Amino acid sequence: MSDILLQVNQVSKTYHEASVATQVLSDVELKVYKGEQLAIIGSSGSGKSTLLHIMGTLDQPTSGSVFLDGEDLYQISNQRQAQIRNQDLGFIYQFHHLLPEFTALENVAMPGLIAGQPKGDVTHRAKALLERVGLGHRIEHTPAELSGGERQRVAIARALINQPKLVLADEPTGNLDAKSGDSVYTLIKELAASLGTSFVIVTHDAKLAQRMDRQLQMVDGHLLLAQDTK
Ligand SMILES: Nc1ncnc2c1ncn2[C@@H]1O[C@H](COP(=O)(O)OP(=O)(O)O)[C@@H](O)[C@H]1O
Ligand SMILES: [Mg+2]
Repeated sequence: MSDILLQVNQVSKTYHEASVATQVLSDVELKVYKGEQLAIIGSSGSGKSTLLHIMGTLDQPTSGSVFLDGEDLYQISNQRQAQIRNQDLGFIYQFHHLLPEFTALENVAMPGLIAGQPKGDVTHRAKALLERVGLGHRIEHTPAELSGGERQRVAIARALINQPKLVLADEPTGNLDAKSGDSVYTLIKELAASLGTSFVIVTHDAKLAQRMDRQLQMVDGHLLLAQDTK
């Protein structure tokens, strides 16, 4: 069995607006290995989110291909893509995107219920995950009743509820103070190690990126080995 989980082959992306074409990604090559934590750093506008979206079937490459566990993500039906997003991938965003009218427990359980799993099982797993992320005492709170760091912990638990192969995180600590941001990274490292889940984390914080197994840098749509920023 291959130890490559996700493979990006020669991916380019050009946006067309009116008569202007903007090339945002240029021949990106990337392999994500099973269980690894990879950081992608780069300045604003360099193409990080676009790449993450293409890795997660949320945007189409203009050319090139993306394979997840051997499956070509852009040669399959929309229905299969949606299933992969729900079951094999987890997403964490800069702004938590939790549903405001639901509790932490309900938010974490949601992707499991969407997957059609029995409510009792999902609730049990959601509680256990919330305990894992240090929020066992906050399960009935709504997002408005949680701090920024706590909301991101709920978002991490939600991303993990269906035991995905890969979690894609776009600036997950971009909206947090240094201390909460640091503890989110500690948590991600612990979870990656104990669950064997791969993480790709986009950040512009080079110091946090150094805590991951590997660092790459996006420069004007080109993905390069990161310069040593220590
Ligand atoms: N839907 C879109 N249409 C046109 N241009 C876009 C679109 N999304 C992103 N871009 C452009 O692509 C470039 C890279 O954006 P993005 O991937 O969001 O960068 P980053 O996440 O590194 O800040 C930017 O110049 C942005 O304006
Ligand atoms: Mg971005």
